[in-house]
Amino acid sequence: MAADRQHIFIPWTVQECEDPVLEFAGAEGVYFRDRQGRRYLDFLSQLFNCNLGHGNRRVTEAIKRQAEQACCISPQLLTAERSLLSDELTALVPGDLDKCMFVNSGSEANELAFIMARMVTGRPKIFAKYRSYHGTTFNTLGTAGDPRRMAVEPGPAGSVRFFDPYCYRCDFGLTYPDCGIHCLKALERQIELENPSTVAAVVVEPVTGAAGGFPLPEGYLAGLRDLCDRHGILLIADEVITGFGRTGAWFGVNHDSVVPDIMVMAKGITSGYVPMGAVVVSPRISGHFETRMLPIGSTYAASPLATAAARACLVAYQEEGCVENARRMGQLLMDELQGLKQKHSIIGDVRGKGLLTCLELVTDRATRQPLAPPVVDAQLPIRIRRRAWAEGLHLLARANLLMIAPPLIVTPGQIREGMEQLSRVLFWLEAEVRQQREQQTVPVSPAPLPAS
Ligand SMILES: Cc1ncc(COP(=O)(O)O)c(C=O)c1O
Repeated sequence: MAADRQHIFIPWTVQECEDPVLEFAGAEGVYFRDRQGRRYLDFLSQLFNCNLGHGNRRVTEAIKRQAEQACCISPQLLTAERSLLSDELTALVPGDLDKCMFVNSGSEANELAFIMARMVTGRPKIFAKYRSYHGTTFNTLGTAGDPRRMAVEPGPAGSVRFFDPYCYRCDFGLTYPDCGIHCLKALERQIELENPSTVAAVVVEPVTGAAGGFPLPEGYLAGLRDLCDRHGILLIADEVITGFGRTGAWFGVNHDSVVPDIMVMAKGITSGYVPMGAVVVSPRISGHFETRMLPIGSTYAASPLATAAARACLVAYQEEGCVENARRMGQLLMDELQGLKQKHSIIGDVRGKGLLTCLELVTDRATRQPLAPPVVDAQLPIRIRRRAWAEGLHLLARANLLMIAPPLIVTPGQIREGMEQLSRVLFWLEAEVRQQREQQTVPVSPAPLPAS
């Protein structure tokens, strides 16, 4: 542990705050354990990626078999496995999305999507929501609106941000659905003012991940598709978290029957067993590169181990009924979270889709005052995460959000187990908040003694 702290960066944190760090020692199904043998319920699928849970034999055996055949194949050579994976993936995605480019991560996939969109349209701008995260490279971090972008500001030229359909805290002070999705009209006005012929693409996550934890309201994505079409703008769906059953459908866009021009995927494509990302594009995009140079690629694109893992995952998702289970368990999880809201006044909002859910924590339900500021180095989330670990629960705490996204194989019993652990964490948190409030209201000088 000491060596870890000395030589290893822990991502997305002030380094000295991450002490101690939980030491992962092994895992099975929806549980993992640490070096001391303590068991944790993995209510985050590690980092929204371990959709099949830990130790799926179908996937580990496929990786082993491939490792014995070949671990290293040039991305410029075709393999039967890669061709089959492309066939299977393009059959799964909606509409006319028909050509795949494999990479190593979600960041890389978004990076490539932005480059392709700019090349195909000849336009420089990419629009992204304020509450969004698209990756950790200069372009993806700097284009997204999440506060982490500040590390690279002023960021990449051509990145433009717009207001989200974040209904719990509407930037326009309106209420859905009476608002008529006003934020979409505001986006169109913004695009007009920016000059549509300079806008290459709009990128959205069908359900915002750690940057806000909210689904797009019904009607938004279809409206956005229409808006993009009217202005010749490409729609990029970042399905890095939402893809592969997470929301109770194969892809997040399926809920709205919308077909993007570019679909970006990673995480669940291999259930996180081997790093992989992919960009799947429509003929408008792929056609462009038939006669022009495709200037992008990666040595490890479609590594055979990742390809084998991805193919085995697709079979597992289908044969183990994971998408359907995510839909059913997602409903149960949502009901249970609503039940928790009755018990815990600290919960301001409960939202999500399928097994991608979020609690927004507030100090006061009436004012919706956030429990922690939306800054990246807030201390409270680290303490919440540790407290959850002490209860044997692994979840994501960020600013005033708690995100819960168990593996798609989760059972009703495990959901209820997690809810009991979570409730204990929330009781602790409420006591902490009460204590802090009392300390703040204690007068600086002692109160005068009552007159005798
Ligand atoms: C929506 C979204 N897009 C892109 C990324 C970046 O993916 P990766 O961490 O694989 O680079 C993430 C990572 O969490 C994400 O949540």
